[in-house]
Amino acid sequence: MDDIVKLVYDGKTYELPVIVGSEGERAIDITNLRADTGFITLDPGFANTGACQSSITYMDGEKGILRYRGIPVEELAEKSTFKETAYLLIHGRLPSEEELRNFSIMLNDNSLVHEDMKAFYQNYPRASHPMGILSSMVNALRSFYPALQISEEEINLTVTRLLAKVRTMAAMSYKISRGHTSVYPRPDLAYCENFLNMMFHTPVKPYRIKREMVRALEVFWILHADHEQNCSTSAVRMVGSARTNLYAAISAGMSALWGPLHGGANQAVIEMLTKIHEEGGNYQKFIERAKAKDDPFRMMGFGHRVYKTYDPRAKIMKQKCDELLGAINLEDPLLDIAKELEEAALKDPYFVDHNLYPNVDFYSGIILRAIGIPTNMFTVMFAIGRLPGWISQWKESMDDPQWRISRPRQVYTGPNLTHYIPVEDR
Ligand code: ACO
Repeated sequence: MDDIVKLVYDGKTYELPVIVGSEGERAIDITNLRADTGFITLDPGFANTGACQSSITYMDGEKGILRYRGIPVEELAEKSTFKETAYLLIHGRLPSEEELRNFSIMLNDNSLVHEDMKAFYQNYPRASHPMGILSSMVNALRSFYPALQISEEEINLTVTRLLAKVRTMAAMSYKISRGHTSVYPRPDLAYCENFLNMMFHTPVKPYRIKREMVRALEVFWILHADHEQNCSTSAVRMVGSARTNLYAAISAGMSALWGPLHGGANQAVIEMLTKIHEEGGNYQKFIERAKAKDDPFRMMGFGHRVYKTYDPRAKIMKQKCDELLGAINLEDPLLDIAKELEEAALKDPYFVDHNLYPNVDFYSGIILRAIGIPTNMFTVMFAIGRLPGWISQWKESMDDPQWRISRPRQVYTGPNLTHYIPVEDR
């Protein structure tokens, strides 16, 4: 196979190198395209554009494959913990026992939030969306921990601090939104248990940690831990490319994740399923609306830019829903509606022709509801899960020898040269 692609224009032939990834995916290297030809490329939504070379996550949207550092997400969901998966993503390999122990100690040591930060929390309007609070508080961390991240040690400390504190901050925002006192992290509890305890423990009703819920949360977070160059991760890389600090870059990623077409979809799915339930379970009406050309409504939790088959995460999520609800003896009418809707949609020619399958968000909200997480915290749960991915992508981009500040070009379509007219003459 040629390792070049030829571009022929106006009687001239330009040769562009072909880059081949470790799984055989091919890219045309256009690094020198403009300098050599005067052309730029146009690719709205970047559906055909590789922004970097990365060794973190591999996904194949046609085959429904997702691997972190080469390990299938199915294996991690079955055998790993979120903490170990976070280590794998950030450091590039599974930790030894001692490394895992040290990582746990560092997470524990950094899990408290500066008391002065509470004042910010307490002054947000009561109805504030937790994603808005979390993204701005993560940005504010830079003011509380202004040390520059230069040495490997400092970077590791900042990274661990973020992983440890974001979990505490998320639980704090929930407690404050309920008018409750926040609960401190406990050194005797592991990462997920600690989060659940900080969310649900009260002085009058101690929280009883249920093993099934902890495992469901571990799996939820493992499945969200990275997804290569999606909208929020690209935001982290792009903001980070200006060499801004890690907190600001992560905060930008959180803002991107908040959107209903991205991480906000898990909340939107539950709202949609609730509406279907309230209207007597007529999901067919929603299928028809999703298909109608003149209706902007989309079937939330369906479709994906990369997956053109069943999202492997959705498969695991659906199975976990059944397991969790069975184990805790909970019936959720939304799960029944979701399953019936999925079955009907997958037989519908519109969904088949458009390759629209359930994505990770379709079943995840049902798991979160069963754990007791309120709907407006769903995207925050996604953000905690995605944090290791954002961090590892930011770290990789900082060490990338091909790094340049992100600065796309455009095809200008505005007016040609025109001149200023003083206001009295307009
Ligand atoms: N319901 C109905 N039709 C859909 C849906 C949907 N959920 N998703 C895509 N389509 C249709 C579009 O109308 C379009 O149809 P047309 O070609 O006949 O005009 C076609 O499929 C392609 O749609 P695009 O918007 O070009 O697909 P894109 O890859 O840009 O969008 C996205 C992907 C944003 C995920 C889209 O499928 C969507 O809006 N889904 C619903 C929101 C959602 O679940 N988001 C979570 C994604 S996963 C994540 O971020 C964690």
